[in-house]
Amino acid sequence: MSLKDKIKQLEEKHRLAELGGGQDRIDKQHKLGRKTARERIKDLLDPGTFVETDKFVVHRTTDFGMGDKKILGDGVVTGYGKIDGRLVYVYSQDFTVFGGSLSRTNANKIIKIMDLALKMGAPVIGLNDSGGARIQEGVASLAGYADIFYRNVRSSGVIPQISAILGPCAGGAVYSPAITDFILMVKGTSYMFVTGPDVIKSVTHEVVTMEDLGGAMTHNKKSGVAHFTAEDDEQAMMMIRELMSFIPSNNMEDPPVKPCMDDLDREEPKLDEVVPVDPNKPYDMHEIIGSVIDNGHFLEVQPHYAQNIIVGFARIGGRSVGIVANQPAVLAGVLDIDASAKAARFVRFCDAFNIPLVVFEDVPGFLPGTAQEYGGIIKHGAKLLYAFAEATVPKITVITRKAYGGAYDVMNSKHIGADVNYAYPTAEIAVMGPEGAVNIIYRNVDDETRAQKIKEYRENFASPYRAAELGYIDEIIYPRETRKKLVQALEMTSTKSESNPPKKHGNIPL
Ligand code: HXC
Repeated sequence: MSLKDKIKQLEEKHRLAELGGGQDRIDKQHKLGRKTARERIKDLLDPGTFVETDKFVVHRTTDFGMGDKKILGDGVVTGYGKIDGRLVYVYSQDFTVFGGSLSRTNANKIIKIMDLALKMGAPVIGLNDSGGARIQEGVASLAGYADIFYRNVRSSGVIPQISAILGPCAGGAVYSPAITDFILMVKGTSYMFVTGPDVIKSVTHEVVTMEDLGGAMTHNKKSGVAHFTAEDDEQAMMMIRELMSFIPSNNMEDPPVKPCMDDLDREEPKLDEVVPVDPNKPYDMHEIIGSVIDNGHFLEVQPHYAQNIIVGFARIGGRSVGIVANQPAVLAGVLDIDASAKAARFVRFCDAFNIPLVVFEDVPGFLPGTAQEYGGIIKHGAKLLYAFAEATVPKITVITRKAYGGAYDVMNSKHIGADVNYAYPTAEIAVMGPEGAVNIIYRNVDDETRAQKIKEYRENFASPYRAAELGYIDEIIYPRETRKKLVQALEMTSTKSESNPPKKHGNIPL
């Protein structure tokens, strides 16, 4: 073969690999509103930065007539590139090749980049579009999955792992994402389930559509498995880039600091009036968050799930922070099972990746009721307590209104290691609300005395001053100065160095 022919041969191999399962299947993918594996990578990474690995790998199966069905790349595009100039590793499953299913060799490609990512200290982004284990390969494919899961777990807390679900993902194709830090889904084109509608019908006789069973809103709203929704593949890739802008490349790095274009001393007079005089009247905590962060830019995580708690990323003075806030506009901001688990996981992510925590608190307590008790609110609520207590990143709390009972302790109180605790003059820090307290300690008094006692309790206890007298609150601040105070606190805590006692790992209540 001449040198020219050798070059031609290489070109032909590239062409075939890039064609994946063929033009017909690519057209089908487009018709369904989905991009191809390579198009997604192009949208995700900085232009021209993608370096592909294992482009010519093929499977080794001969069963079920697979011997003569070999496609270069074998259903997954792997490699590395850059997001905003920072190194990331990517795998992108190609549904046009055997439904993006995972073969032994296909798993080896993913494992290779996962190992590199862990060694280099760079994130792994998985673009999932796969029917799960390649059925023709049997246990070899299951082994491939287990090898991936093992690496997901070993990488957890060391490098960020982000998963986008971009097609019908079943079986193993959902368990690897479930171990990663964040899951994005696309509305109308992506699905996640352990077993599909047909299996469910035959086992439990339930009839359910793909969308209801495992569509984007099912997992973003009902199950809480997913964290973000995008309108299409392109937006999903933009969201991953945005998420990356808040987080470091590994657990030894600090998150990227951006130049701050927003006045550090900016006062917001409207915050002096944001908390209603009537303690039972709701208000939207987003208003406070939006006014104190840089340029009002908030990347909310799980915005549709357990809306009684708000979590997400923002910047204050250019530094990345993780916000955790009770939402009095939903269920009065109570802590329930879902809210506790949602916030606990977020707190642990921030702590693992050196992102300071800023907490806004207005919580009447844990949600009472048999459904919550039988569902295990005790252990789920304890998750949040555990997560805040074990976190060693800078921890700052602003109590805007209610900080009642156990929820006061849980929501990043001074006692579980918070560094700076502020309260608004509207704060009410007590064991419970005035009505509940008087009903218990003055059980048998007439209505007039009860009203009098409620008034007394409100004046004496439903304020931040008792807590301030005891030093549990460092400062009672003017709400309009919240931003300035947070900037100061973050600056002061920026050199924080604290570690937990050496141990193999703790035993968070699961
Ligand atoms: C091999 C597969 C495949 C698989 C799909 N294909 N899934 N090939 N192994 N797991 C192939 C199809 O044969 C078809 O090939 C092509 O991909 C497209 O699939 P369609 O069925 O035509 O597409 P669609 O109608 O969109 O349905 C997608 C789907 C469905 C919902 C994903 O294919 C499906 O239910 N697949 C099986 C899912 C599953 O049960 N996986 C195993 C899970 S067990 P042609 O040549 O016709 O185009 C598992 C264990 C892991 O993963 C352990 C975890 C703990």
